[in-house]
Amino acid sequence: MYGGVGERSPAHVRLAEVVGVIGMATDLGIGLPLEHAGRTCLLTMELGRRLGMSRAERADLYYLTLLRMLGCTAGSAEAAEYFGDEVAFGRATQHLDWGDMQSFTRWAQESFGAGREPAERQRMIEKLFSYSPEQHGASLAGHCEVAQMLASRLGSSDSVRAGLGYVFERFDGSGAPNGIRGTDLPLGVRVMVLCNEVEIHHRLKGEAAAVAMARDRSGTAFDPAVVEAFCADATAILSVVDVPALWERLLAADPEPGRVLDRSELIEAGSVMAEFADLKSTYLYGHSTGVAELIAAAAERSGASSEECTTLRFAALAHDLGRVTVSTAVWDKPGPLSDSEWEGVRLHAYYSERMLGKAAGFARAAEIVGMHHERVDGSGYHRGNFAAGQPAGARVLAACDAYVAMRAARPHRPALDPEHAASELRRLAENDRLDVRAVNDVLAAAGHVGPRMRRRWPAELTDREVDVLRCIARGLSIQDAAGDLHVAPKTVDFHLQNIYSKAGISTRAAAALFAVQNGLLDA
Ligand SMILES: [Fe+2]
Repeated sequence: MYGGVGERSPAHVRLAEVVGVIGMATDLGIGLPLEHAGRTCLLTMELGRRLGMSRAERADLYYLTLLRMLGCTAGSAEAAEYFGDEVAFGRATQHLDWGDMQSFTRWAQESFGAGREPAERQRMIEKLFSYSPEQHGASLAGHCEVAQMLASRLGSSDSVRAGLGYVFERFDGSGAPNGIRGTDLPLGVRVMVLCNEVEIHHRLKGEAAAVAMARDRSGTAFDPAVVEAFCADATAILSVVDVPALWERLLAADPEPGRVLDRSELIEAGSVMAEFADLKSTYLYGHSTGVAELIAAAAERSGASSEECTTLRFAALAHDLGRVTVSTAVWDKPGPLSDSEWEGVRLHAYYSERMLGKAAGFARAAEIVGMHHERVDGSGYHRGNFAAGQPAGARVLAACDAYVAMRAARPHRPALDPEHAASELRRLAENDRLDVRAVNDVLAAAGHVGPRMRRRWPAELTDREVDVLRCIARGLSIQDAAGDLHVAPKTVDFHLQNIYSKAGISTRAAAALFAVQNGLLDA
């Protein structure tokens, strides 16, 4: 019913794929490259094996490392207030030792706000240093708590959940939120903390810099025994991340690869992605889950199969994952966005698609997700596709997203009441922004009663002529089309001549192409 959405349903998705996608989302959310968490995870597997960790311990370490920053969006609003663009701030400070305030102060004086007007830069630096250690500790505690709550819904083990409470702790007890020290920190955490920094320094400056950093922070940030194990075989350990097809390597490195999600676990995983993404702004709380509920209702009413419903629901839950790439300061901005801010916003749909598309089981959902801001007249983003390039599932997701967004407040406007939102959605359909059928389905699913809008077909075709055109595009003969449509062959021929005349064409091949180009096959 929704354009082949169910052909490759996400029925056989591995848990490793889900946490791998989440790892990529957290990377982008803190300003790091897409593969940071994956590369760190591969390093932890190598180092954990050398330290004698069992297969079960390494399995926990695998998931802990990929979920390490699952709480990062919880502090986005506060970070944006004090650091400016919190994503850019994370990128600029990734190499720093957070236990070394002198280095941080030096970096801030030299680099923070560089290029801004002196008065503006001074204001930014004063704001940055007004952020108290107590605020920082509370923020990290919130980060850990949210990560643990979300991870528990992915079926994470007690060990993984506990580990997520220690990701900002340091070996010398100077970390946050609880100052846990030494071997009171689980071995897996000590391995992960080191590998996280090793990945950054190796990527930025190479093996020697990574080894030097590890030795320099040994006994403060890191467990000296873990540092020694790394330094003793650094070249071999680091060689695992300098490989092509990192995603495939990451999946192959899962110590317990048999963990496949059933349908309800998949929807739960999508809900985790939804809440992770929507924590980016208070304006967005509940947005993705609202879109998912609405699209499920719309799909059910339209007779979609259960596979189609699952794919659409998952796509709706995960559609805004790419929002994490943009600062909360932009999402919460009440005024018009600058051109560069708009570029970032336009790319969030791309990043959602790109991350999900890494997992084979999410391929169809990823395609739909990448089009959730497209418009049927080609005025949307990020591709600017016309209707013909948008599967029906993408068009209904776009309509659901628009409706749910209208029903909630945004920085530049209050929430619209249901009738106002419905009339806005109808207006968008009349102006060829949203698909008429999708809007009809969404409004009915949202409880709006009234006649369905009639779709205006290209070249002034009638509904019947579109029925005939679809048969022709499917390769049916006049006889077979007549049988399909329960009319006489001469009636089909009559409509076909009208189609030729209106569309300015004269052959069945051109008619089929006309149907494809105008998105009529699954409309
Ligand atoms: Fe979006």
